Amino acid sequence: MKTVLVTGGCGFIGSNFLNLFVPKMTDTSFVNIDSLTYAGNPLNLKDIEASENYRFERVDIREQEDVDGVFKKYMPDTVVHFAAESHVDRSIYGPRDFLETNVTGTLNLLEACRSHWEPDGQNLFHHVSTDEVYGSLGDEGLFSETTAYDPSSPYSASKASSDHLVRAWHTTFGLPVTITNCSNNYGPYQFPEKLIPLMILNALEGKKLPVYGKGLNVRDWLYVTDHCAAVMKVIEKGKRGRTYNVGGRCEKRNIEIVEKICDLVAGKTGKAPEHYRGLISFVTDRPGHDYRYAMDASKIEKELGFRPQETFESGLEKTVDWYMDNTEWVESVRTGDYRKWIESHYGDGESG
Ligand code: NAD
Ligand code: TYD
Repeated sequence: MKTVLVTGGCGFIGSNFLNLFVPKMTDTSFVNIDSLTYAGNPLNLKDIEASENYRFERVDIREQEDVDGVFKKYMPDTVVHFAAESHVDRSIYGPRDFLETNVTGTLNLLEACRSHWEPDGQNLFHHVSTDEVYGSLGDEGLFSETTAYDPSSPYSASKASSDHLVRAWHTTFGLPVTITNCSNNYGPYQFPEKLIPLMILNALEGKKLPVYGKGLNVRDWLYVTDHCAAVMKVIEKGKRGRTYNVGGRCEKRNIEIVEKICDLVAGKTGKAPEHYRGLISFVTDRPGHDYRYAMDASKIEKELGFRPQETFESGLEKTVDWYMDNTEWVESVRTGDYRKWIESHYGDGESG
């Protein structure tokens, strides 16, 4: 039986990954380590938490000894590394946690792999990264795997550093690694500080919809389970030492997305679209705001046959429906009640 160590499995993408693959891959054991920061919510995993092939340990990847303890206890053969501080705005107001978790945390995991794995073993360290490491595009062009790194924010600089560490551990120590750099994700269980869930929930509550600058910045959007499927494809078939860009070939300006959300929510509540569009409020731009991200995903498409299953229209509607239907999750996040639940189950040792 294979044992896969998933880091950050209580966050947005990690929980979608576990919800997708724990029930499908019953001959594989999944061990989730997560320190349960504000972004880590065990409620995301309530459908699979009792599964025989799933275990959870509250571990902070900034602590080398604790990471080593997990390796000794479970002897994972594969690591899928999602854990990170992930929000650009937070990185601007408090960069230190980003460096500690994203850089030192990744270093600790790489060192644990190096000391616990046989040099010729069938292991893999898969690192989940972002298109933001490449910096900002103008109106033309796409990021490819050979685009030079040029990160703008403390978040993207910390992710770029972690990518370099992963490659260095491959080149210098022969650690079997793969990396995916993915574009913006959206879908269920995303913490409502990111554009799409924030706008859906604010619209439903009749709050202002804060659009940075003129809303003309472009992101390339991918539904979260398509990203999870791409990660699994790379783990199973990706060439060791390689990087794969993952994207949805789905560029949208922020304002288009916010307007679309207003129209979708209107369609579901029966109110006029203008009611929601009237909540749009253009606010001071983010410092160092990258203008455009767009991925050339042809390598993963050609080499591994990756194709997204969701269109932006189908994915966005599913996402709006999910936030409207999952009132218990939304309430626990909105009121912070999930933190009380974590304290009663795991103590109050919150980090991050
Ligand atoms: P998230 O913020 O929703 O979740 C991060 C998870 O990591 C949380 O459960 C949190 O508790 C955990 N964590 C944070 N610090 C930790 C620590 N020190 N020790 C252990 N666990 C810790 O993030 P996400 O959106 O799910 O992103 C997951 C990964 O994917 C990140 O590496 C991110 O850089 C990358 N990524 C995200 C996107 C996106 O659009 N969200 C796009 C491309 C790549
Ligand atoms: P975000 O979801 O924070 O992802 P990232 O910064 O990693 O791309 O933001 C997506 C885009 O939406 C980005 O251009 C910033 C913009 N944005 C707003 O205009 N208003 C908001 O309230 C937020 C959170 C983001």
